[in-house]
Amino acid sequence: MVAGMFRFDGKVVVITGAAAGIGAAAAKMFSDQGAVVAVTDVNMELAEKTVSEIAAAGGKAKAYYCDVSSRESVDSMIDEVTADFGTVDVMVDNAGGTHGAVHSGNIEEYTDEEFDGVVKRNLYGAFYLCRKVIPMMKEKRAGKIVIVSSGAGRTTSRSEFGRIPYAPSKAAQLGLMRQLALECAPFNIQINGVAPGLIKSTQYIEDNWNTNTPEQKEATLKKIPAGRRGTSEEIAAGILFMASEEASYVTGHCLDINGGSLMM
Ligand SMILES: NC(=O)c1ccc[n+]([C@@H]2O[C@H](COP(=O)([O-])OP(=O)(O)OC[C@H]3O[C@@H](n4cnc5c(N)ncnc54)[C@H](O)[C@@H]3O)[C@@H](O)[C@H]2O)c1
Repeated sequence: MVAGMFRFDGKVVVITGAAAGIGAAAAKMFSDQGAVVAVTDVNMELAEKTVSEIAAAGGKAKAYYCDVSSRESVDSMIDEVTADFGTVDVMVDNAGGTHGAVHSGNIEEYTDEEFDGVVKRNLYGAFYLCRKVIPMMKEKRAGKIVIVSSGAGRTTSRSEFGRIPYAPSKAAQLGLMRQLALECAPFNIQINGVAPGLIKSTQYIEDNWNTNTPEQKEATLKKIPAGRRGTSEEIAAGILFMASEEASYVTGHCLDINGGSLMM
């Protein structure tokens, strides 16, 4: 980071799915830049570990339970954060994924429940979070929202698992992001997305990656111009930029961070 830029001194940053992977990397990076971080997740053990690591580095963070697929859970988490720290300045909607659809079937193999579970986690999660924080941001005429979508939402998913519900739910997150960016621009609220490519993040993602044979891994990496998977920190850096004051004239935009994959 450039000294004096991308600072978040005293800003209250809420990150969902922040116990591990991209969310945890973002939590640590925001803290390094002066933010107070609400580390929210369904895995409280790992969330507390992330908070301890932030505290050990001299930062301020607190863990909160939040299942983004539940309206009640999202509402009560944001209420708790505002009770503790007074406001939300930055909201990062990071929790998402293919939960409940861990097979590689085609459309005829998907149940309603599998489709619903993934849409709930990705699209409804974004909807619940935005609906809860935007009124307070409109009132103070300031706010930043970053939605973590996916390359799958920009083009298609080539993952082994959960392609059918994942790709449309990640694309829909970006549709919501643009619609809300339009609504909120006059209130000085910037709403943007980041679309990660293939990222080495959590153990869950690593286990999925390791179901590939060495030949399959090599074929996948050949489709990435950079020739490798990205890191959680490389996505976190994009999230921080989108949430920064330096990006005050950027809204309704999705930043692709994928080693050049979209060019292939
Ligand atoms: N890793 C990749 O290659 C990749 C690529 C594109 C997009 N993404 C997106 O990045 C985001 C983060 O993914 P990741 O790879 O860091 O990790 P991940 O998807 O494995 O999970 C990150 C965290 O989310 C938490 N989580 C799971 N379900 C939740 C829920 N319902 N509510 C709240 N938290 C929940 C988990 O406990 C975990 O700590 C996701 O939205 C994912 O779709 C990841």
